[in-house]
Amino acid sequence: MLEGKHILLGVSSSVACYKAVELARLFQKAGAEVRVIMTKNAANLVQPLQFEAVTGNPVYCDIFNCRAPWEVEHVAMAKWGDVFVVAPATSNILAKMAAGIADDAPTTLYPAFPHTTFVAPAMHTEMWLHPATQDNIAILQKRGVRFVGPETGELASGDVGIGRMAEPEHILEAVMDFFAQELSLKGRCVLVTAGPTQEAIDPVRFISNRSSGKMGYAIAEEAVRRGAEVTLVSGPTLLPDPPGVTTIRVRTALEMHREALARAEKPDIFIFAAAVSDYRPEKPSEKKMKKTPEKMTLRLAPNPDIARDIGRKARPDQVLVGFSAETHNIEQSARKKMKEKHFDLIVANDVSSEGIGMGAELNAVVLLSPGGKPEKMGPAPKKFLASRILDKVAEVMNKKKM
Ligand SMILES: Cc1cc2nc3c(=O)[nH]c(=O)nc-3n(C[C@H](O)[C@H](O)[C@H](O)COP(=O)(O)O)c2cc1C
Repeated sequence: MLEGKHILLGVSSSVACYKAVELARLFQKAGAEVRVIMTKNAANLVQPLQFEAVTGNPVYCDIFNCRAPWEVEHVAMAKWGDVFVVAPATSNILAKMAAGIADDAPTTLYPAFPHTTFVAPAMHTEMWLHPATQDNIAILQKRGVRFVGPETGELASGDVGIGRMAEPEHILEAVMDFFAQELSLKGRCVLVTAGPTQEAIDPVRFISNRSSGKMGYAIAEEAVRRGAEVTLVSGPTLLPDPPGVTTIRVRTALEMHREALARAEKPDIFIFAAAVSDYRPEKPSEKKMKKTPEKMTLRLAPNPDIARDIGRKARPDQVLVGFSAETHNIEQSARKKMKEKHFDLIVANDVSSEGIGMGAELNAVVLLSPGGKPEKMGPAPKKFLASRILDKVAEVMNKKKM
């Protein structure tokens, strides 16, 4: 199950450290390659050599003592890993991860790592239940960090309660489930629209919006990573074509409409992440318009609605996912849009705050499905959200195809 996977195993100084050696062995046995990153405190409890013997790789413990001085170790490691698993995770490391403190090897790796992070906390019940720990857990969960355990049972102190690190087999299972889910779109065909559109006023001027295309591109990339065949119909963006994705560049809403509808037969999933201009100048000038002291009126014609037109012709087994960028009444407007356009899922986001949403690196969204509870995600990097959104899309698709 883990053949060819690269696992970064972060170890902090809980009494459960010794179980991490067993976990490293299980990962190896399942076919993964493992590299261990320890806190200095953890190295007081378990010899790094133990991990080196099991994994066959050097342990990364001291950020200033790199074996390959030409590489910045935490960055090189972050690029190498497919998943980062912190087990055991002390209350201290959870706090540092939540706050973004990077003062040792695992906590420096964490913010540099672009993919999924798991944590398996281990601590005494009082520490686990303390509001400081619970607040940090909430922050990490909101950011997309996945928790395995803790379990209830006998603790190192002899007390019985919640706080035991999840058994290594359970952590292995969670990571294997994650990679299985990773292939959740294998063999599926996905069409994503992304970016803004530009509606010409004259040969040099246009109406557009602030969409950067980053969210749609992140979804297209993540869908490829999960084994899908992906077509991206993109408005003008500064982003390079995502590797492995068939990218069709368009400029206007009419072009995007034409290209998307021409490909509407095959996809299992449509993701309408583009910020399509609702209107276009009715009669764009063929020549550059001259400045005059007069007021100017621009007559606008409505653009076709790509999602609605695809939705009208969609087969019952095709999954339609909409986006709804709003500045107020976010959930209400998104639900209305979902109903009108027969979406199976809608990703609503508030674009009124600076630093999140349109054009930004981060996004905060609410996922809504007909009759389903709203699921809040973020603020988090768009790549993280792309992965969480596709988890949900795969779930909806599997239900539809059953
Ligand atoms: C023997 C021993 C066992 C410990 N076990 C735990 C534990 O299970 N969970 C925890 O949160 N802290 C535990 N601690 C406390 C942490 O080691 C301490 O908070 C340390 O500063 C954490 O550093 P680190 O997160 O950088 O590894 C233990 C300390 C000792 C000496």
